[in-house]
Amino acid sequence: MKDDLSMKPLISCSILSADFAHLKEQIHTAEEAGADWIHIDVMDGHFVPNISMGPFIVETCRRITELPLDVHLMIEKPELHIEDFINAGANWVSVHVEGNPGICRTLQHIRSLGCKPSIVLNPGTPASSIEAVLDTIDMVLVMTVNPGYSGQAFLPGVLPKIKKVYEMLQSSNPDANIQIDGGISEKNLQSVLQSGANVIVAATSIFKYPDGIAAGIQALRKAANR
Ligand code: DX5
Ligand code: ZN
Repeated sequence: MKDDLSMKPLISCSILSADFAHLKEQIHTAEEAGADWIHIDVMDGHFVPNISMGPFIVETCRRITELPLDVHLMIEKPELHIEDFINAGANWVSVHVEGNPGICRTLQHIRSLGCKPSIVLNPGTPASSIEAVLDTIDMVLVMTVNPGYSGQAFLPGVLPKIKKVYEMLQSSNPDANIQIDGGISEKNLQSVLQSGANVIVAATSIFKYPDGIAAGIQALRKAANR
């Protein structure tokens, strides 16, 4: 799948920057403008400092759109909540490797419930930490900001790690996706695509784009084709 780096990347719109008073309209606007997935950031105030959304919002999004729901769990003990998020309609569930000694079992559990498992690396976590589970996942999510908030600056120092993950997957699981999350904009999109990413998460550069949501998605598409 990732042999052809010029392939059109998938865009996963993070609703963390959406206007929740108009969530339905905003998701529909993103969908009509060509969004591929909806990214839902779940934060518990412990694993990351911020508190955000739970299964209820996933269930709400499921009623709004048929696009795949890409749920990013930034919570302690994710294994306790996997079923709730999948029952609410998640298609992808991403769990962090940090602080998760039972990560392999959790990833297997996600798959056993008919959902796609994905493993996440914080900026400070080395690629080698996920080596043993690369055949258990359908996606690696490489964070390009420290998780917790939208609107943070992209960390270019993570680019070599994206390349490393790409190379590791080429030999062990070449069909797996590489997703990038944090500070992505039309300015740095090419650099992450060239490093091997094929799924892009964006909140600010879509939902807070000065010319509107559709223009934000178009700007990312244009930057991807440069
Ligand atoms: C950060 C979240 C991201 C966030 C991205 O912890 O995982 O998904 O919403 O926001 P932007 O695109 O504004 O960096
Ligand atoms: Zn996220």
